[in-house]
Amino acid sequence: MSSKPWGGRFNERTDISVEAFTSSIQVDKRLYPYDIEGSVAHCRMLAKVGVLTDEESETIVDGLFQIKRELDQDQFDFDDSMEDIHMHIEARLLQLVGKTAQKLHTARSRNDQVALDVRMFLRDATGRIVDGLTALRQTLVDLAEQHTDTVMPGYTHLQRAQPVLLAHHWMAYYEMFTRDAERFDDCLKRTNVMPLGAAALAGTTHPIDRQYTAELLNFPVVTANSLDTVSDRDFIMEFLAAASICMVHFSRLAEELVLWSSTEFSFIQLADAFSTGSSIMPQKKNPDIPELIRGKTGRVVGDLVALITLMKSLPLAYNRDMQEDKPPLFDAVDTVQACIDIVVKMLPTIRVGTETMRRAATRGFLNATDMADYLVGRGMPFRKAHAVVGQAVAHALEQGKELHELTLKELETFSKLIKDDLFDALTLAQMISRRQSAGGTAGDQVRGAIAAAKQRLAQAGAPEAKPKNTKASMR
Ligand code: ARG
Repeated sequence: MSSKPWGGRFNERTDISVEAFTSSIQVDKRLYPYDIEGSVAHCRMLAKVGVLTDEESETIVDGLFQIKRELDQDQFDFDDSMEDIHMHIEARLLQLVGKTAQKLHTARSRNDQVALDVRMFLRDATGRIVDGLTALRQTLVDLAEQHTDTVMPGYTHLQRAQPVLLAHHWMAYYEMFTRDAERFDDCLKRTNVMPLGAAALAGTTHPIDRQYTAELLNFPVVTANSLDTVSDRDFIMEFLAAASICMVHFSRLAEELVLWSSTEFSFIQLADAFSTGSSIMPQKKNPDIPELIRGKTGRVVGDLVALITLMKSLPLAYNRDMQEDKPPLFDAVDTVQACIDIVVKMLPTIRVGTETMRRAATRGFLNATDMADYLVGRGMPFRKAHAVVGQAVAHALEQGKELHELTLKELETFSKLIKDDLFDALTLAQMISRRQSAGGTAGDQVRGAIAAAKQRLAQAGAPEAKPKNTKASMR
């Protein structure tokens, strides 16, 4: 007989290479707090329904807390021959409390156990990420508040288009990261479902009380179908999709920081503390942090693709393939969290070249649309106005001037509707303040958006929104 917990029907010892190949302990050991909490809850439930005596349950729970201490203090031996974290904890429990330990796995399988551990892990991780995004959104709102008078060029196709407030630009990222937080919160609804009790795949013959286990572990509901319970990794795929979208937002912000800090743009300067140098070129100050954020985005999208690909076409119910869900999940959690943390620290240290931004907004015909709008205001159909201003731009280009640098006399040749008041409409101040459409870049609109964001953030930070300890985590 093999010495494995599942070794009863085996005559030979597992080949050493198989142990190394199938082991996941180096990856899944970080699930230990959840594995122990889940076992404590399962054990107490078994005592409640009379499968274990109170004494047996107390013995097991004591042992589990002892193991938790050992793991917390790094005094626990790991060994590839024991596959995964579930087996390690069970084996140690047997050493500590003797054969009573063998009763813990009644009405449970590693299939529902690992589903529980990952759901609990992800529930916590998602909560931390949403908190981090709240801090990031707050940072963006603070920056926006400092820049309600800073005008910069807005771009399409990376060509100067129309002026916008820098505050408006920061608030655009606030909106993206707000949607990300909402997406993570929404995933949480489907993550926060208690799987224990599905056992291997079909449920169990023991008189378990799944609701009670759920209550001990702070789950609002239990899963509905035992086959689905041990097969389902949708909640991880959803999380990775949300993480990928969030990272795409980070990568766009990062790309703008790289561009803006270049000499060509000179819109911002990154702080020395958040930049790096070159080993050969003494003059260099490089934006490695935003560049790495761009790069890490590729990894997280890869994590999503890895999991979706591994789940595709798997027959029900559990398959060992699914053990490969954890590396991408852990990688994405760690990467998103690290990006949030560094950006929250870095953004407030950025120095903004407000004058350079303003100057850039005055060159490149950013007021051409406003000139067309002026003509529309005097009765010209927009398409006609567009053509007229196009001709004026061509003329101005020839003269090496901006539209507002042409004389009234020159301008009149393009349309009789043009009067002296056109020049007012072509100023930066007017271009900004007249974009009063809801969500536009006018100062009033942007200040309104900032006020609304501050109110929302005040609610997001409220203490009742924070997770509580589970009953099973307490002695
Ligand atoms: N380490 C495994 C995993 O992460 C736990 C479940 C193992 N179940 C099994 N039937 N071999 O998926």
